[in-house]
Amino acid sequence: MEFPEFTDDLLTGFEGVDRQHRVLFKVARKVLAVRAAAPEEVFKASSFLVSYVHYHFTAEERAMEMAGYPRLESHKRQHDLIRKDVDGIREATLAREEPQKLLLRIQMLLDDWFLPHINGVDRPFAEYLSQNPEAWVAVGELASARALIDEGRLSPEHATDELDDQ
Ligand SMILES: [Fe+2]
Ligand SMILES: [Fe+2]
Repeated sequence: MEFPEFTDDLLTGFEGVDRQHRVLFKVARKVLAVRAAAPEEVFKASSFLVSYVHYHFTAEERAMEMAGYPRLESHKRQHDLIRKDVDGIREATLAREEPQKLLLRIQMLLDDWFLPHINGVDRPFAEYLSQNPEAWVAVGELASARALIDEGRLSPEHATDELDDQ
């Protein structure tokens, strides 16, 4: 099991989103790389990945709202489908599923969703922003995990000290 490196052809042009995508790739690669390590390491990395995906989606959705993005609802539906799989991974992590099985779930999630979603759904949002300067200004920076929790958008369970440090 291998997950690819983040490459420049995945850049959307929205710097904050691109930065978080880089983190997602880094974390995903880390999870899959620790497979030979102690199971607790796998669970720890998996929990972080789950939280980071939730954080990233919520930050993107807030940005789309601020931008008045016309395709917000369909983009959100895509996120919700992925969230279902991610929550399955969360449950499996909490239940301490056999690490090899858990890693397989994660690999499938990454293969099925990450690349198609970035290219097919996130990129059009970034393109919309670049064509609508006022929307850009309205979005500003992506919100931090702490700000999203304070706004009641993100569950506090997805706050980890590391989230803001990435
Ligand atoms: Fe994204
Ligand atoms: Fe997205």
